[in-house]
Amino acid sequence: MRTLIANAQVMLPAGRAETSVVVEGTKIVEIDPAPQLVCQQRIDARGLYLLPGIIDDQVHFREPGLTHKEDLWHATHACAKGGVTTFLEMPNTRPATTTQAALEDKLALAARHSLVNYGFYIGATPHNLDELRSARRTPGIKIFVGSSTGDLLVDDQEALERIFAETRLPITAHCEDETTVRANAQRLAGTSQVADHSRIRDEQAAIIATRRAVDLALRHRHRFHVLHVSTGIEARFLAEQLQGHHPGLITAEACPHHLLLNVDDYPRLGTLIQMNPSLKTADDNRQLWDALRAGAIQVVATDHAPHTWEEKQQPYPQSPSGLPCVENSLALMLDQVHHGRCTLEQVVHWMCDAPARVWDMVGKGRIEVGYDADLVLVDLDKEDRVENARQQTKCRWSPWDGQVLRGWPVRTWVLGHEVFCDGRFDVSRRGHEVQFDHARGGYWR
Ligand code: DOR
Repeated sequence: MRTLIANAQVMLPAGRAETSVVVEGTKIVEIDPAPQLVCQQRIDARGLYLLPGIIDDQVHFREPGLTHKEDLWHATHACAKGGVTTFLEMPNTRPATTTQAALEDKLALAARHSLVNYGFYIGATPHNLDELRSARRTPGIKIFVGSSTGDLLVDDQEALERIFAETRLPITAHCEDETTVRANAQRLAGTSQVADHSRIRDEQAAIIATRRAVDLALRHRHRFHVLHVSTGIEARFLAEQLQGHHPGLITAEACPHHLLLNVDDYPRLGTLIQMNPSLKTADDNRQLWDALRAGAIQVVATDHAPHTWEEKQQPYPQSPSGLPCVENSLALMLDQVHHGRCTLEQVVHWMCDAPARVWDMVGKGRIEVGYDADLVLVDLDKEDRVENARQQTKCRWSPWDGQVLRGWPVRTWVLGHEVFCDGRFDVSRRGHEVQFDHARGGYWR
C-alpha cells in the first residue's frame, strides 16, 4: 500500500519545506511526488510538521526481571504516543545483559512485545571481556563508571583499560566517580533530605568520572559517548574536546530533566526527581543548553528510568533514583521551541539525526528517499497537560504532571505502519531490530 502524507511542513535534512512524502511498505519512497501519483491512502497534513521518528538512545525498560516497574508493552505504547520510533535500552535489567545469550533473550522479547524499533546495549563487568569482544546485534558497550540502579560497576582501572583497549564496539558510560560519591555519602550519612542527593552525587563526582572515561577513550582511540551530562563543567570540558585532535571520537548526551529541572525543584517534587546523575543548578541547566547549541553535546535522550509511585514515596535515601520521560520528551522539547530556547531543526538534529549517526544505525534518523518510514506528525500549536492518569508508562506518573506543554506528536508511524493516531494505538504489528553498521564510523562520517 502507498500512503501520501500531503502538504506537511517536512523536516528534511536540508531544512523544512512544505511538501508531501510517499510511504510504501516500510520505506520512504518519494518526496514531493508528481500530483498524478496514485496512492491508496491520503493524509492531509497541512498545518502539521512531519519529523523523522525520535530515536531515544538511553532508556531503561526493565524487562526482564523488573516488570513491576515497567515492561516493553507499556514502555513502547509510551514511545508510540511520544513519537519515539526507536529505542536503545540499557543492560541493568535482571538478569543484567552481560552476555550474548542475555542480549538475544532481550531481542526475542522485543520481537514479541515492542511496538517500536529496538536495540540493546551489552553491559560491561570486570569479568566479561570475552563477551564484550565478540558481542553482535548491539549498538555498543555500556559501562557504569560509577554505580547506579543495579550492580553493574566497573571502577577498577586495569579492567577499564582492557575494555577500551581490547574491544571494538563503541562504548558509552554512566560517569559518576564512585570514590567521591562514597566520601560524600559518608560525610552526609544519616541524612533524609533528598536535596543532599545532589551534594552526594555532586559536580566533582561527575567531572572526575567524565575526564577519566574520556582520557581512556583518547588514549585507546576508542569511540565513546558520554551519557546524561549534568554539569556545566563537563559541558565546558566536552567543548574543549571538540578543539582537540580527535573530532567525533567523543560524543555526548543531555536529558530533558537535566535541561529543565534543577535543585530548586526539590521542595516541590522531592524524591520524584531523585536521579543519577543528580540534578544540579539553574546555571548548569543554562550551560547544558549552550553546549547543545554549540555542538559540544549532540544528543538529547531521556534515560527513562521508571520506578513505581510507592517506591518513589519512600523517604530518602531508601527511594530509588530514576524518573520516566519517554512519552513526553518530544513535547517537552517542542515546548522549548516556543520558549525560544532552540529551533525545531535543532530538536530534529538532537533527537533523530545525531543519535542515528552516533550509533551507526542503518536507514534511520532522516526523512530521505530510501530511509525507513519511521515518522512522527506534530501539531506544534496543540496545548495539552501532562497528567499522571493518562501516562502509558507502567508506573503511571511523570515529574511534569500538571504542566501544560505546547507542541505534541499526533500520529506516529513505525516502518510505515501507523502505530499511534490521535490517542489510539494500533498494536497489530511489532517494531524491528535496528541494524548497526559500525564501519560507518559514527558521528563524523
Ligand atoms: O537515576 C537513574 N536511574 N540513573 C541511572 O543511570 C539508572 C537509572 C535506573 O535504572 O533506575
